[in-house]
Amino acid sequence: MTHKLRIAQIGVGAWGKNLLRNFRALTNADVVGVCDRNTDTLRKVALDYPGLRTCKDPAEIIDDPKIDAVIIATESPTHFELTKRALEAGKHVFVEKPMTQKTSEAIVLRDLAAQHDLRLMVGHILLYHPAFEYVRELISSGALGEIYYIYSVRVNLGVVRSQENAFDSLAPHDISVALDFIGNRAVAVSAQGQAYLQPGVEDVVFATVYFEDGKLAHLHTSWLDPHKVRKITVVGSRRMAVIDDVEGVEKVRLYDKGVDIASSVSPVVDYATVMTVRSGDISIPQIPMKEPLLNECEHFVQSVLNGTTPLSDAENGVRVVQILDAARDSMKRGGAKIDLIAESA
Ligand SMILES: NC(=O)c1ccc[n+]([C@@H]2O[C@H](COP(=O)([O-])OP(=O)(O)OC[C@H]3O[C@@H](n4cnc5c(N)ncnc54)[C@H](O)[C@@H]3O)[C@@H](O)[C@H]2O)c1
Repeated sequence: MTHKLRIAQIGVGAWGKNLLRNFRALTNADVVGVCDRNTDTLRKVALDYPGLRTCKDPAEIIDDPKIDAVIIATESPTHFELTKRALEAGKHVFVEKPMTQKTSEAIVLRDLAAQHDLRLMVGHILLYHPAFEYVRELISSGALGEIYYIYSVRVNLGVVRSQENAFDSLAPHDISVALDFIGNRAVAVSAQGQAYLQPGVEDVVFATVYFEDGKLAHLHTSWLDPHKVRKITVVGSRRMAVIDDVEGVEKVRLYDKGVDIASSVSPVVDYATVMTVRSGDISIPQIPMKEPLLNECEHFVQSVLNGTTPLSDAENGVRVVQILDAARDSMKRGGAKIDLIAESA
């Protein structure tokens, strides 16, 4: 593609307006129109961006041959239909998380994008966050050793949604990180949650994702909590890392802590005697910060212009939705462990 990427966006609500601001900041893309079914929302956008084309019907964007890519930032129940229509019309798509509500739908979209050779990227924003990029590099360089387990806490008071539970709304971020940091295939999920505010919509969910080779991720999500916490702890065999996104500057802390097992004692008769607890320094690396959303928007545009696979591609979207689906299933069955079935080739 030699020209600037011509983008249009569907959904400019609370989050969509941030996407719009960031896509408009890019020099290799032109936002040529926005669509929202809410008249007041459209009026506000028209005031903020005079001259920007606005419409209420997504078809005006999806069927416009002059538009290369569509950004979908509507509520999650609409993601499947809108993304499907856009892909069928030959558009590259950026869709907000969760990609869809069901795994079967996510698979349809992934396959459709592959069939038409279109980029389909999901808004798993933490994968584009400088603090997470920093820890990912540490993990791939081996600096943390073997990753044993991860746990995350993502709790706050609000935003309470009615069409998805707190796990569907908040956990896609942490799941995408766990998949990325652990690397192994997720094999099972168990979850427990409770609905207090609306029947059938869990406000708090505690979930465990089991990975191959015994790796674990535990996720605590809630929109009914007195604290605002956005923290992920990564426990490796050599070092441990904590990413605290509520911290203004010092977002990553590295702990030179672990338990070393002497390999020279052979045969090992009593593990307790050959294990040494190592409690070393705590360091706070300086990480140049950049708005994660801007990174994410740039990544999408570059993937389309260069024909490369985005980090949070459709396959990544499918894997996250599989875990959300399994967590819902597990909660219905009182926390039972639900196996994730590997797709047959
Ligand atoms: N990446 C993140 O950190 C992050 C943060 C918040 C929300 N989100 C995601 O962004 C999406 C939107 O969330 P939000 O909080 O902005 O919701 P919102 O309800 O504030 O905005 C959604 C907008 O989409 C419009 N809309 C819905 N269906 C439409 C249709 N068929 N045609 C045209 N317009 C339509 C609505 O009128 C509304 O203005 C969700 O998927 C949410 O999970 C992501």
